[in-house]
Amino acid sequence: MSGDLHVSTAVIVVAAGSGTRLGAALPKAFVDLAGQTLLERSLRSIILLPYPVQVVVVAPADFVSDAQAIAHKVAPGLEALVSVVAGGATRHDSVAEGLAVVQASVQVVLVHDAARALTPTTLFADVDMAVQATGAGIVPALPVVDSLKQVDVTGGVLGIADREQLRAAQTPQGFPRAELEAAYAAAGSSDYTDDAAVFAANGGAVTTIPGDEVAFKITTAWDLNRAHQVLGGVPDAHRVGTGIDVHAFGEAENLWLAGLHWPGEKELSGHSDGDAVAHAICDALLSAAGLGDIGSRFGTADPAYANASGEVFVRGTIELLAAAGFEPINVSVQLIGNKPRFSPRREEAQDVLTEWVGAPVSVSATTTDGLGFTGRGEGVAAIATALVRQR
Ligand code: CTP
Ligand code: MG
Repeated sequence: MSGDLHVSTAVIVVAAGSGTRLGAALPKAFVDLAGQTLLERSLRSIILLPYPVQVVVVAPADFVSDAQAIAHKVAPGLEALVSVVAGGATRHDSVAEGLAVVQASVQVVLVHDAARALTPTTLFADVDMAVQATGAGIVPALPVVDSLKQVDVTGGVLGIADREQLRAAQTPQGFPRAELEAAYAAAGSSDYTDDAAVFAANGGAVTTIPGDEVAFKITTAWDLNRAHQVLGGVPDAHRVGTGIDVHAFGEAENLWLAGLHWPGEKELSGHSDGDAVAHAICDALLSAAGLGDIGSRFGTADPAYANASGEVFVRGTIELLAAAGFEPINVSVQLIGNKPRFSPRREEAQDVLTEWVGAPVSVSATTTDGLGFTGRGEGVAAIATALVRQR
C-alpha cells in the first residue's frame, strides 16, 4: 500500500475469529446474513462515512483472499484505502496485526468487531468525533437493563452489582493513535477482551458515549437470527434525497442543459458547464445515499472539474453510490425557467439522463409566471428527487 493517503482516521475491523459459539461451517465474519456476509455488512457501514478513512480488515490467515474479494466488492476503486492482513490467535493479537499497517497520517484509530455487522455509520462518526474532541479513548456503551448478580461456580448468588454504575461496551472503540500503539506495545499478548481495557491499563483515560442497540455482537445462532429479524424490519432499505441547483445565464451561445447541447442558446455560467439539471440530479442521489453533496464530493474549486460536463458528475455520482452499496431506483427532476423552450426536447433529455443514471429519469419543466430570476430570464433552477435502494 502507498504511504501517502493523507487520511486522519483508520478503522481496524477484526474478523479473524473462528466463531466457535456460532458453530457455522465458516469463520463468523464470512457467514451469510440475508445475502451479505457479516464482514461485508460491517464494511458497508464504514464506507458510508462522508469522508475517507483507511480500513484495515484483519482476517483468518486462510481467508485473506476471501476478505480481499469482499473489500473489493464493497469498495471498488478504493483498494488504496482498504487492506487485509492476517490475524492472530486472540483478538488482542489480531488488533496488533491491524495496528501495524495503519498509515503514517492517521491520528485516530477505531477498532471494530466484524461480528457487530449492523452497526450504523453514525456510530463510527460519533466515536471518531468524540476522540478528536476529547483526546480520550471512546467506548460506545449501553445501560444495563437486567438486574445483576454475582455468583459462585455453582450459580449460588453471592451478591448484587449496582447496574446504575455499569455499562455494556460495544465497538467501534476509538483512540488517539499514538497512545493506542503505546498501550498495545506495553501490553504484549494479553487476555483483554476489548481495546479500552488495553488502553486504560496503560494509563489512558476512557469515556463512554451512547451506543446503539443494533450494534449488538453476533455471537450465537440466536444472535444471527435476531440480526435477520432486525434486517427484515429495517425501513431504510429505500431512501429518498432532494437536490436543487441554480445557474445564471452567461454570454456565449453554448448552452448545455439536461445533458443536451442547445445551439443558439446562451450558456449557463459556473465553474463547470453549468448544467443545473445534471447537478440537481447528483445532489439528490448523493443526499439519498447519505454521501454529502456535489460540492464536497467533487470539489467545485478543483481544476479537475473546470468546465466538466454534467455527464462527468452524474456518472461519477453513480460510481460513488455503487461503492457505498446504493443503486438508483428513479429520479424525478423539474427545470424552472422560461428559456430554453424545453418541451420539444423533453424525451431526448430523459433518454440521455436515464442512460447516465442507469435508472429512469423523468424531466419536467415549468415557468414562474414571469416572477423572480427565472421569470426575468436571468437563469434557471432545477429541483430533483431521487429514490435509491441499498443493496
Ligand atoms: N477476533 C479476531 N481474532 C481472533 C479472535 C477474534 O479478529 N483471534 C474478532 C472476531 O472475528 C470478532 C471479534 O474479534 O469480530 C469479537 O470476537 P468474538 O465475537 O469472540 O468472535 P469469535 O472469536 O470469532 O467467536 P467465538 O469466541 O465464539 O469463537
Ligand atoms: Mg472469541
